[in-house]
Amino acid sequence: GAEFSEAGVAQPQPAAPARPAEPLTIVFASESGNSEKLAGDLAKNARKLGFKPNVVDMADLELSTLASAKKLVVIAATWGEGEPPGRVTRVYNELMGEGAPRLDGVEFGVLALGDTAYVEFCAVGKKIDERLAALGGKRAVDRVDCDLDFAEPAGKWIEGALKALAPPDAGRGRVIEVDFATKPAAAPNTDIVEAEITELVNLNSSRSDKETVHLALAFDGPAPAYQPGDSLDLYPENDPAYVDDLLKAAGLSDDAALRAELIASRDVTTLSAKTVETYANATDHLYVKKLIADGEMKDWIAGRQLIDLLTTFPIALDADKLRSLTRPLAPRAYSIASSRAEVGDEAHLLISAVRYRAFGRDRKGVASNYVAERLKKGGRVRVKLKPNKHFGLPAADKDIIMVGPGTGVAPFRAFVQERRATAATGKSWLFFGDRQFTHDFLYQLDWQDALKDGVLTRMDVAFSRDRPDKIYVQHKIWERRRDLVEWLDKGAHFYVCGDAKAMAKDVRAMLVNAYADVKAITPEAAEQAVATLEREKRYLTDVY
Ligand code: 2AM
Repeated sequence: GAEFSEAGVAQPQPAAPARPAEPLTIVFASESGNSEKLAGDLAKNARKLGFKPNVVDMADLELSTLASAKKLVVIAATWGEGEPPGRVTRVYNELMGEGAPRLDGVEFGVLALGDTAYVEFCAVGKKIDERLAALGGKRAVDRVDCDLDFAEPAGKWIEGALKALAPPDAGRGRVIEVDFATKPAAAPNTDIVEAEITELVNLNSSRSDKETVHLALAFDGPAPAYQPGDSLDLYPENDPAYVDDLLKAAGLSDDAALRAELIASRDVTTLSAKTVETYANATDHLYVKKLIADGEMKDWIAGRQLIDLLTTFPIALDADKLRSLTRPLAPRAYSIASSRAEVGDEAHLLISAVRYRAFGRDRKGVASNYVAERLKKGGRVRVKLKPNKHFGLPAADKDIIMVGPGTGVAPFRAFVQERRATAATGKSWLFFGDRQFTHDFLYQLDWQDALKDGVLTRMDVAFSRDRPDKIYVQHKIWERRRDLVEWLDKGAHFYVCGDAKAMAKDVRAMLVNAYADVKAITPEAAEQAVATLEREKRYLTDVY
């Protein structure tokens, strides 16, 4: 993230009389921690300029805080198909709803984080920006929408926002010099470490349709100080065969240096609206221009990749033009499936190879196939710790209920290992699901051991393709609803990890049903019961 040093910010002159610090409310809506980090950076710089910043997680926000703020900054991430980070959904809906308070007299600015790979790029930041204005707020600084490489634009925006929000008499006539933009951002990638691959095993049977790799990494020195629930960012390389197809389509097959660069460090698969526009301008390609002019481009790019643009509308490119169609290759985050208390200076990951066919081409997830197809035991890989303080174990005497179908089970292996190593006294209950018992029971032996030694109190499994009618984890939740609600009434924490699009929503909806049925209350009251769990941070999600 953007990180600024003290130099370049004029400090108040000691002789001047102190003026009361100007309150500044900073709200962040974070999924993976970037917005949160930026909010911290913003607060630090605001403080130096004589603001009194108050940083609030949108998940915990009372809307009255907005109404009473005089100056407000919102840093909001968009997740998946234009959705807010899961933890903030409740408050986000409140803000968009009829009960939201008027914000007359509130000066605000919004910084949006997102990913141009999605059509609904930065939708949440855009909607919050519009909403704050519609509620009567005064936009003091224009919104900026950032892509994955947000550090520089976000740093510039923060500089501008602080200037715009500073009171006219800031520093009693002294000029505030904010000079973020000229300073180098903190050296990127400083915390990346190399690790040796000591195990690389497909946990599915050879007869499964799936390939889910258990990856054990050994660090040369101490492992990054990860906690159960944290993730590792893994730095992948592109599929050389894909890059060769791309170079061929561009007429650049002979450029070995470009090939190496594209494989190692450029995102060569993502196709965004911006990419197509860049392509149209760089090539003057008539059909691409027509696609844009006809308003059909957004539909066309859905599900397609950069290779499709170059093969469908071929034209010779030079190296710079091809490079301009790519962005820096970003790491992919995977939940850590081990506890340092049990595995020492190692970390385990569980990675499912993403493979599908679309528009007549076989598609492969970049990082998962880098792991599944090109990494080997004994080889090395680059990773970086990505802490997740919103998804950790509670006190050792608290009960936990874990719902993790597919690779969603990864962090729960870390939870169980940690609870064994620390002799935690709380009970543990795991819901796992996958396609077939015989072929897809990930970490089966680990769970059997944990049940045997009592670290795992209960386990329910839902294999969806062993019988004609589909059984999912939420169906098991429904079956066990009486015990489940009893555990929750006694203070258990409820965790969901895995698919965000369908599974996590279905599980939540089923828990609401469970409350309504077991307690014989209305759906509205049951919804409130689950919302209360969320507010109390006893319903925690890590979904993707
Ligand atoms: P399916 O592939 O047979 O539909 C892990 O991927 C498991 O999650 C699989 O058994 C998968 O079943 C299942 N799954 C798919 N959609 C789901 C949903 N909406 N809720 C819960 N589990 C789901």
